[in-house]
Amino acid sequence: MRKKKFLPGLLAVITAGVFLTSCQGVGKEERKSSLRIGISLYRADDTFINNIRGIIEEKAKEYERESGIKVTLDIQDAKGSQNTQNSQVERFIALECDVLCINPVDRMDASGIIDGAMTAGVPVVFFNRQPVEEDMNRWDQLYYVGVDARETAILQGQMVVDLYQEQPETVDLNGDGVVSYVMLEGETSHQDSLIRTEWSIQTLKDGGVPIEKITGGIANWERSQASALMEQWLSEYPDKIELVVSNNDDMALGAIDALERAQITEVNVIGIDGTTPGLEALENGSLLGTVSANKELYASAIVELAAGCALGEAPPEEYPLTDGKYYWTPQEILINKIKENP
Ligand code: GAL
Repeated sequence: MRKKKFLPGLLAVITAGVFLTSCQGVGKEERKSSLRIGISLYRADDTFINNIRGIIEEKAKEYERESGIKVTLDIQDAKGSQNTQNSQVERFIALECDVLCINPVDRMDASGIIDGAMTAGVPVVFFNRQPVEEDMNRWDQLYYVGVDARETAILQGQMVVDLYQEQPETVDLNGDGVVSYVMLEGETSHQDSLIRTEWSIQTLKDGGVPIEKITGGIANWERSQASALMEQWLSEYPDKIELVVSNNDDMALGAIDALERAQITEVNVIGIDGTTPGLEALENGSLLGTVSANKELYASAIVELAAGCALGEAPPEEYPLTDGKYYWTPQEILINKIKENP
């Protein structure tokens, strides 16, 4: 029994030795010929995360072809449990992963992951769910890849401002001088939800769109939850809703599902992410617009930063880092062309 208890500590000491040499300052002559990257996703069934995962896999193959370094990805689904994710991280460390890419379940509670990684000397690239600054500042081998939530929200609001300025009747559907909207919000603990909610509306106000909030609710990024909320709002406020502002595409699609069930086509719905189903809805006109991060850059920043720090190299110049640790992915507005130019 004693021996068993002692083992994880021992492993940590052994791996610390290995990684302190491999990640911090080894010369090119000792460059590794293979890399093992441990990736944990907060939920593999999240549409946006699933999109990013697919591109990470492609980018890792590309990196392997270009560098000649064999890359093994060990991708795990934490299924919304921080405990599960902590165990996955322990396992990655025991398996001697060279670097970890973590999409934290609870971004306020990344300290367990950081403790383990620091003890073992394994760098971590967090993504999408931003750990608090205090945690990020604990070690110089911690990085974050994501998008600037305020910028996303301003772009989301801007697409409606532009449309309203050019053709107010496509936004103020009943012509009463006020655009009545409902708001669909993501998880309350997520940095993106509050900021997106606040700044999309602020941008509409600043841009001179006369708006009135009918109601709003939390649908935790999920299509089915948003669909249920929207169905309820359509029956509570018949013929009132002109605009649906959603914190992401999946919830926007949920609202569209409810609108389709009620056979309503004119209500404008805007999302964020540019996911595969989001882009299809944009194409067929049921989604007015979305804000999309450049997913190629998002995923390659994760892979290249991870590989770079596992090899003890300086972070790649193509991905400029704010404060030496944050990569903010560029984003753009994607709008349905038919609505924009009827
Ligand atoms: C957001 C994204 C959501 C969801 C969430 C998960 O940035 O817009 O769709 O994927 O991250 O953390």
